[in-house]
Amino acid sequence: MSGHEAPILELTELNKCYAAPGHGSVQALCNVNLQLYPGECLGIVGESGSGKSTLARCITHLEKVTSGQMFYRGKDITQLKGEPLRQLYKQVQMVFQEPSSIFNPRTSIGKFVREPLLNYKMMRRSEAETAVLRLLERVGLPAEAADKYPHELSGGEQQRAVIARAIGVQPDIILFDEATSALDAPIQQQMLDLLVQLRRETGVSCMFISHDLAVVQKVSDRVAVMNKGEIVEVLESAKLTTAARHPYTRSLMASVLSVRKIRNEIRGTKEVI
Ligand SMILES: Nc1ncnc2c1ncn2[C@@H]1O[C@H](COP(=O)(O)OP(=O)(O)OP(=O)(O)O)[C@@H](O)[C@H]1O
Ligand SMILES: [Mg+2]
Repeated sequence: MSGHEAPILELTELNKCYAAPGHGSVQALCNVNLQLYPGECLGIVGESGSGKSTLARCITHLEKVTSGQMFYRGKDITQLKGEPLRQLYKQVQMVFQEPSSIFNPRTSIGKFVREPLLNYKMMRRSEAETAVLRLLERVGLPAEAADKYPHELSGGEQQRAVIARAIGVQPDIILFDEATSALDAPIQQQMLDLLVQLRRETGVSCMFISHDLAVVQKVSDRVAVMNKGEIVEVLESAKLTTAARHPYTRSLMASVLSVRKIRNEIRGTKEVI
């Protein structure tokens, strides 16, 4: 990123300890320092248990940090409460792996997408109907989806509905936590294309969390590598292969390359990526 621009989100010396009954505590985040710049997509990669979700959950105040500070547009948001916190929830949206966990089975998709528009008083009820249809169209869902219920949509369609709801409030930041991991490869690719398109159209800043380095690399400008609660390296996506220094990053890279090699051998190609 440009180095002249102020970060939209900045984390300094963030720590998060969970009590682990019988084993003392688990240090899920360890002195995390990280900046997200306006319009940027920052990838967060690391193996299971490295603290990726904890990081996202602390930023969105679903978890309380143990120590350290978080700044949104230069303002300390670490201890935010009440109405300022409600406004932060609007600016920082989160998309999880399992969309089914956030749907109410008795709420139609149209109502699901409309709710935050009305809750945040962004428009009148009469205008919201048209806005919902526009949002559905932007994420590639037909207008008829508004009258459907979550169980009538596929996993990929549900995730599109979640994204429609998230972008409806015009957030500054969207955190994607393994948002495409449960989808099969072609649908995952469609979701990644949608993410790229939305970034281009809205300029929204993103954090894209995944255990899959290849997927993270596809959509991110920079990639932060996590290991055991620490950020071990932050690299520009384009230079990942050549610039990785940390042994953990290099082992992640090696596993991606060996998967590609096996795939190419199966396809009978000699393509080198
Ligand atoms: N609510 C909790 N209580 C206790 N320990 C927790 C809690 N949530 C997470 N942890 C622990 O914190 C560490 C980081 O977990 P986290 O869910 O952030 O990892 P992750 O990188 O998102 O993993 P995954 O790729 O499997 O989603 C792990 O050791 C986990 O067991
Ligand atoms: Mg996780």
